Amino acid sequence: MQKFNFDEEIDRRAVPALKWHKMVLGADGMDLFPASVADMDFKAPPVVLEALQARLDHGVFGYEAVPEDLIPALTGWLTERHNWEVDPNHILRAPNVLNSMSMAINALSDPGDKLIVQPPVFFDFYDIVAENGREILSNPLIESDGDYRMDFEDLAKKAADPRAKIMLLCNPHNPVGRVWRAEELRRLGDICAAHGVLVISDEIHGGLSFGDHKYTPFASLGEAYARNSVTSISPAKLFNLAACGAAFTIVPDDTKRAALQAENSRLTVNKNNAFASAAMVAAYNGGGPWLDAALKYLEANARLVVDMLADTQIESRVPEGTFLMWLDFRKLGMDPVELHPFLREQANMQLTRGIAFGEEGRGFARLNIACPRGRLKAALEALVSAVTAS
Ligand SMILES: Cc1ncc(COP(=O)(O)O)c(C=O)c1O
Repeated sequence: MQKFNFDEEIDRRAVPALKWHKMVLGADGMDLFPASVADMDFKAPPVVLEALQARLDHGVFGYEAVPEDLIPALTGWLTERHNWEVDPNHILRAPNVLNSMSMAINALSDPGDKLIVQPPVFFDFYDIVAENGREILSNPLIESDGDYRMDFEDLAKKAADPRAKIMLLCNPHNPVGRVWRAEELRRLGDICAAHGVLVISDEIHGGLSFGDHKYTPFASLGEAYARNSVTSISPAKLFNLAACGAAFTIVPDDTKRAALQAENSRLTVNKNNAFASAAMVAAYNGGGPWLDAALKYLEANARLVVDMLADTQIESRVPEGTFLMWLDFRKLGMDPVELHPFLREQANMQLTRGIAFGEEGRGFARLNIACPRGRLKAALEALVSAVTAS
């Protein structure tokens, strides 16, 4: 396998990287270990950098059509890597995954409708629901000993609400790191279909999974599941391309796709971004070896976290997928109002507050481990000394 250097320290303050920016850290926190925003501190795969350089060298950036190799790059990736055959005609483009979901919510439900979410879940789900004038219907995950599963009995009750129109699935799940199994997704899909609830599946972390945990695209479960689904997907998390701003919406049902296409045209969000397209084609066509190496590195980082925290009161486990770890601080007995200042002031760390993911996240925090191991280790040493001294 080709060698990639994930230990390289790159100065992300040289660009306005959010994770390292005062917008996120606060002007007083600029020397904290930045572990909140969900991107990687690694350079994109060399094949992507070469493709971007070639596109830059061309020098002309006038209006462009969608490159002919873009959609085949995505479908090839999904078939080869995840055994999911997607009809190219079912794919629409979007500027980013949240926008793709937001457009789908607007096109396929009405103001006042209820959307089911499974907290603790990615905080922006709450925002896109509220900002589009819809309501949240909560179907919390069940936690036991750090493991999370879906509450299907509760889901059936929530889906039976006549105003419940959409389920926002997070597959794999941010922040708890579950890579949902086919049986779990099938059960969820059956409940939603029985009650006429559409599944919008956010699969931005799809493919970031460790060991035997296999990502199952919701729509790959079969024809009926696919027709009751909208999948929002992009290479942003897999290849660290979030600032390239490009994503896809996969809509197998013709009527739903026509509604979404109309929304897409209404907002004129379907122009080609030359750099995003070049990056995506290169990543999907040639980024596999880099991703495999990154996954090995990330899994070793996750093991380091678990080993280093083993003798503390912080509970952690290697996630099934994603580069995010869901740390349980409840044994420390601190309220979130105390916990986060404590982490900042005593451990020099900026994590994402668990409570941001819903009330179910109280006492937890999310740690991003996609950084050079030496820096992660130093940050963990500071955390261990802070909690040992507390
Ligand atoms: C589950 C999930 N969905 C969507 C996003 C945001 O995607 P985008 O930047 O493409 O809108 C994130 C980013 O952290 C995420 O974790």
